[in-house]
Amino acid sequence: MTAARNEPLVALRRLLPAPGELTADALVAELRPWESAPAQRPLRPHVAVNMVHTSDGRAAVHGRTGPISSLADRQLFHALRTRVDAVMVGAGTLRVERYGRMVPDAARRAQRRAAGLAPDPLAIVVSGSLDLPADLPLLQDPSSRVVIVTSSARSLAGVRAQVEYLRAEEALDLPGALAQLRSDHGVRAILCEGGPHLNASLLAHGLLDELFLTTVPVLAGATGALSIMDGAALEAPLGLSLCWMLEHEGELFARYAIGAPGERRVGAPT
Ligand SMILES: NC(=O)c1ccc[n+]([C@@H]2O[C@H](COP(=O)([O-])OP(=O)(O)OC[C@H]3O[C@@H](n4cnc5c(N)ncnc54)[C@H](OP(=O)(O)O)[C@@H]3O)[C@@H](O)[C@H]2O)c1
Repeated sequence: MTAARNEPLVALRRLLPAPGELTADALVAELRPWESAPAQRPLRPHVAVNMVHTSDGRAAVHGRTGPISSLADRQLFHALRTRVDAVMVGAGTLRVERYGRMVPDAARRAQRRAAGLAPDPLAIVVSGSLDLPADLPLLQDPSSRVVIVTSSARSLAGVRAQVEYLRAEEALDLPGALAQLRSDHGVRAILCEGGPHLNASLLAHGLLDELFLTTVPVLAGATGALSIMDGAALEAPLGLSLCWMLEHEGELFARYAIGAPGERRVGAPT
């Protein structure tokens, strides 16, 4: 596998569980999240969230992730997209980051096929309002299959992607949407790429299973800047279990398992 635009492949230094050096592709090759979809009914997909933040917990600088993303982080970001049925994103992120085709690199699509996955992941967009510009590159890509989870009764005009809608009558029903994505679209594993408000909604509903978190060794300051989960509050802090930790030029790449609500809460009243 080559990196995008002939960028050099970054060797990440694994600190745990077993020390060693490996690329992002080699790191994720062991991941088979589609085998970890929760067994409780209604069945829903396994959901992992992937985020980057600064050492002072900022998930964006001047409203964008670009200033805090590195080559190593981008390689992990793209490698993770090769290990899931679907990539999910909130409308706020889609509008700002202007997503295109989820896996533009043919070699990565081949990698997905080799893992028994469709060459292109399903793109899932969560938008209450359906206020999405039709000229977003993702919506103009004919090879992209997109499911929009929305409470709007409208449909988007002028899009070239294959777009379907999962509609809720009033407030958006994330648990119901995930169950429907599993039953009607065969989605067993989702990579959620934020943003912070979508993450917080999923977490508050107990719908997040894993967190991939890159910590960039910079301080960004700013008042009111977004953290990786912003919005819906939890009753008490929820503990995480560290599964791996890697390092590259001071940047840390963690993978955590997230407990179900009621489990591993820290400081909850007894
Ligand atoms: N650091 C990172 O890794 C990372 C990753 C992603 C994004 N970001 C940054 O985060 C910022 C955007 O994040 P954000 O939190 O504002 O946006 P977001 O979470 O991507 O999207 C929020 C929007 O999603 C829809 N939505 C999400 N949950 C919903 C629910 N439960 N019910 C109804 N609608 C729901 C709504 O869409 P409508 O408005 O259409 O109703 C809502 O306004 C940008 O600055 C981006 O650069 C950082």
